[in-house]
Amino acid sequence: MERKQLIEEINRLRSEKNAVILAHYYQMGEMQDIADHVGDSLALAQWAAKTDADIIVLCGVHFMGETAKILSPYKKVLIPDMEAGCSLADSCPVNVFEKFVQAHPGYTVVSYVNTTAAVKALTDVVVTSTNSKKIIDQLPKDEKIIFGPDRNLGDYINSVTGRNMLLWDGACHVHEQFSLEKLLKLKEVYPQAEVIAHPECKTQILIVADFVGSTQAMLNHATKSSAKEFIVATESGILHQMEAQNPDKIFIPVPPNDSSCGCNECNFMRLNTLEKLYLCLRDETPEILIDPQLRERAVKPILRMLEMS
Ligand code: 13P
Repeated sequence: MERKQLIEEINRLRSEKNAVILAHYYQMGEMQDIADHVGDSLALAQWAAKTDADIIVLCGVHFMGETAKILSPYKKVLIPDMEAGCSLADSCPVNVFEKFVQAHPGYTVVSYVNTTAAVKALTDVVVTSTNSKKIIDQLPKDEKIIFGPDRNLGDYINSVTGRNMLLWDGACHVHEQFSLEKLLKLKEVYPQAEVIAHPECKTQILIVADFVGSTQAMLNHATKSSAKEFIVATESGILHQMEAQNPDKIFIPVPPNDSSCGCNECNFMRLNTLEKLYLCLRDETPEILIDPQLRERAVKPILRMLEMS
């Protein structure tokens, strides 16, 4: 099917089936353009919790679909490609994490949203990169905390809150890859540019950044700032919105260590295509299903997050 026809069919099916299409900022531009809402992990969860659509199509990765299903268990939740996983969620296998938690009685478990439903079920409060500082600041100062799975975000939160959270040793394969050497060369080429970075990046990238924040915070900052050039250290899908909202500004993606192309893309996020979105709306599959008992345990720390956000 041609692109124009695909878009028409997606629009027809969305309205006939009362479906809402939610897309993360790391989706390809054409997926962001067709979505009803484009946002960061927190916004996706908030929309999923309050939508009155019958079907939620989550254009993102698997844990985002799971979070939507946990929050809206009576809605049909679809994702265009079931293989769209997350290296960070994969870096925290539930059986190993459970032993880690059991080995540290008395600790409060704070988990990044980039986790499986099973890991969320072992968690006291979920956070995203937008609300992690705000939520952790609300916990008593002497509370012993396990933070998982992203050690870079955990290190960053420890540094800005003065906490000493015990960190799980996980990471996102995209954010781990940014090259400090290439970033420093870009700063020489664009001396006026601001460096903006996602807290999933390694400390060596964050210490040279002028601004650190979630995808939504980076986008807000780029729009507000008087700078005209930005060197961007996160998945390059975010450039689509940055450029659309700031046509007079220049955005340069930081390259990874081992790539000849100038960008850094999440291969899982990019599994979702217009064609798969059309098929998923037409056939109502692949569908995210969650065991009701698991859902009952996993929903509590997510609702706690939404309350504390
Ligand atoms: P935010 O959506 O919170 O910026 O985090 C990015 C991410 O890790 C998506 O997988």
